[in-house]
Amino acid sequence: MNIKQIEDKYFMHTYKRNNLVVKKAKNQFVWDENDKKYLDFFAGISVCNVGHCNETIIKAAKKQLDNFAHVSNLYYAPPQVELGEKLAKRTFKGGRIFLSNSGAEANECAIKLARKWGFLNPSKTGNRYEIICFDNSFHGRTMATISATGQKNFHEYLKPLQEKFVFAKINNIDSVKELINDMTVAVMIEPVQGEGGIVPSDKKFLKELRALCNKNNLLLIFDEIQCGIGRTGKFYAFENYGVKPDIVTLAKSLANGLPLGAAIAGKKCAETFVYGDHGSTFGGNPVSCAAALAVLNIMNSKFLNHSLQTAKYLRAKLENLKKKYSIVKDVRGLGLMIGIKLTVNGKDIVGYCMDKGLIINCTQDTVLRLLPPLVIVKKDVDFAIKILEEALKWQLTM
Ligand SMILES: Cc1ncc(COP(=O)(O)O)c(C=O)c1O
Repeated sequence: MNIKQIEDKYFMHTYKRNNLVVKKAKNQFVWDENDKKYLDFFAGISVCNVGHCNETIIKAAKKQLDNFAHVSNLYYAPPQVELGEKLAKRTFKGGRIFLSNSGAEANECAIKLARKWGFLNPSKTGNRYEIICFDNSFHGRTMATISATGQKNFHEYLKPLQEKFVFAKINNIDSVKELINDMTVAVMIEPVQGEGGIVPSDKKFLKELRALCNKNNLLLIFDEIQCGIGRTGKFYAFENYGVKPDIVTLAKSLANGLPLGAAIAGKKCAETFVYGDHGSTFGGNPVSCAAALAVLNIMNSKFLNHSLQTAKYLRAKLENLKKKYSIVKDVRGLGLMIGIKLTVNGKDIVGYCMDKGLIINCTQDTVLRLLPPLVIVKKDVDFAIKILEEALKWQLTM
């Protein structure tokens, strides 16, 4: 049996894999088992933001691996504490952090924290636990985070879901206002929806959301698991908006490919948990934390500005494709988080690009999702645009 047949036989059928067996990856490139080279415009769903196999990161992780890989959170691990201090300080004055392994777990932490905070800060009628989320959002695959996800197809067969997640419409402040009641404790939103089709929040909407949370004493939770860590040209997507949350969650690119997540709470709710309220055996793994410290060092303003310049160049070329091809309905996003909304299903275009050596993704059936490593250069953009244009032309002949 070959690798595809073995996977098919022994794995639960949870992933519909593309026809690509990866042999190695470096910076913005991936090679398959036959040494065919691909330009990666997906970065493992916005995970390898500083590029595959970045040498600084490998060195930091290896060094930590030589010292120790795990000691349990019952003891102090220096890279973990150093990372926690850096991230907490960078995010909030008086903030506190919890480190997890994944995005779903980071959001679980945020949800649990909000629920406890609602218990400690009740309304006149009792403790508060209802969380307002958004249609088309995606927050993870655990039972709580899937219940917070505003897409019905993820809920099939899983009912009863976790209770008291209700759904408003992104960029529609009235839909949020209508849902607020005595039981509401928090609003949870991706500043730029990823899986939901690359949908950025409007600046006015996020500002109104912040004001609404302040007025009603609600926690504002930003899920920056996909849109954070440089993806939009700023370290946090919320820096594009001038709006700060009370809790922000990170994962994916935090350790550039090693598993790590974080929930960071601001002053309003940072003291909510006490010893024993939350935990994880592997959360904040020292090797992942050493890698994340290297990510923070690499991701300085020069690095981010480079990604913004490339994003500008790419957006202009994509707008050009939109003018030329009627099946391109919209080009949207922030920084190097870009969605191309089509009038047709994008599946075949993804396949065409893959054949030609370009890795992209499609979400919500009709939105091509581009999440390249932030290290791509103009030459890569030119290659990607050439293949995309060919793919659009080919699609029109179908
Ligand atoms: C916005 C957002 N939140 C949460 C998650 C869940 O992260 P993980 O798969 O690491 O659990 C994802 C994953 O795609 C995501 O995009």
